[in-house]
Amino acid sequence: MSDTNPIFVGMDLGTFKTSVASSTGYRDVLQTAVGWPKDHIARTMLGRDVVFGKDLVEHRLALDIVRPFEKGSLKYVEAASTGMSADQIKRHQLATRLIIEYAVARVRPEPGRPIYGVIGVPSRASMVNKRFIMEAASAVFDGIAVVSEPFTIAYGMNRLSDALVVDIGAGTTDLCPIYGVYPSDEEQVTIPLGGDHIDEELEKTLQATYPDVQASRNMVREMKERYGFVNSVSESAVVNLTINGRPRPFDITEPLKSACRVIVEPLVEAIRDMIGKFDPEFQARLRQNIILGGGGSQLKGLDRVIEQGLVEFGGGKVTKVPDAAYAGAVGALKLAMGMPAQGWTQLRASTAATASTPTTPTTTTEKHSLAV
Ligand SMILES: Nc1ncnc2c1ncn2[C@@H]1O[C@H](COP(=O)(O)OP(=O)(O)OP(=O)(O)O)[C@@H](O)[C@H]1O
Ligand SMILES: [Mg+2]
Repeated sequence: MSDTNPIFVGMDLGTFKTSVASSTGYRDVLQTAVGWPKDHIARTMLGRDVVFGKDLVEHRLALDIVRPFEKGSLKYVEAASTGMSADQIKRHQLATRLIIEYAVARVRPEPGRPIYGVIGVPSRASMVNKRFIMEAASAVFDGIAVVSEPFTIAYGMNRLSDALVVDIGAGTTDLCPIYGVYPSDEEQVTIPLGGDHIDEELEKTLQATYPDVQASRNMVREMKERYGFVNSVSESAVVNLTINGRPRPFDITEPLKSACRVIVEPLVEAIRDMIGKFDPEFQARLRQNIILGGGGSQLKGLDRVIEQGLVEFGGGKVTKVPDAAYAGAVGALKLAMGMPAQGWTQLRASTAATASTPTTPTTTTEKHSLAV
């Protein structure tokens, strides 16, 4: 295969969503999930053996849906420790491979052009899990590097020194200090806190406020994504919900605010803790350069509320990524495109390449980057 004219792909393989960006201009976000028809009737109705993307929601009742990274399995904890059977683990592994293949197939690579990819994974993903993701990706990529998600966000925003990236996902939040070198595993922190916790809390507070209202977890998440806020706002959030099958408007402003705020205090505490561990001379600089990424960063007012929480510690400046859905994938793509051709060839040629690529991204491809 020729090494000329490669296609580069950046991918953020999240627990909830996978986003993809390619050098050919393709962008997409899909659920990190795979659906298998429950029986032969479902298979005939769907006309497919495997279902991805939007169809998962539409046909959910006819599908066995597997979310391979749910509860952190295959990502930052060993799959076996989540109580899964060997068969379930295999199924989750297969799902991971299928999602990566599907996402890359959507880029519609032309035959004969090599595909080089950078995949972002949570900062605390274990070595075993990074290796597993590499192997799952090896069928579709000619060269692949697995890097820490917060790092791809910082790289995408050109903030490679004195920054603190806080990536607020569905199940977890990753904190990662960036100061010009590739962050070591020990420096990065993952806290078990994210959008899912707000959804759980909102479901509870809604139940307590309006006991007869019917709202599924999906609806609750959509309400949060549309109206969620943590600061004082003057407008109220009114949504149509059903009571005994009849839709009626309900004011959810207060339950929504209290649910969204459950993540604020622990988040501010984790940020303070991480900054406090740094050399005092760097602490002020990190505080002035806090970047919020991930879907949870879009909660209205979160940046300002974190700044308020840092006032008594010397103050800080918090910026949200401009496009939370794609920040990780676009940063990963930029990393992929910045890596010299030579680096990819080396990655491709050896089975356990050490960080052999000679420019900035060198430090970003981890020492254990595998070749394919
Ligand atoms: N506008 C919004 N306001 C508040 N929360 C949002 C918004 N949009 C998305 N979210 C929430 O962000 C979370 C998903 O974030 P993201 O897509 O970054 O997660 P992920 O990358 O799949 O997960 P992880 O990083 O934990 O592996 C979900 O809880 C989702 O409801
Ligand atoms: Mg993420």
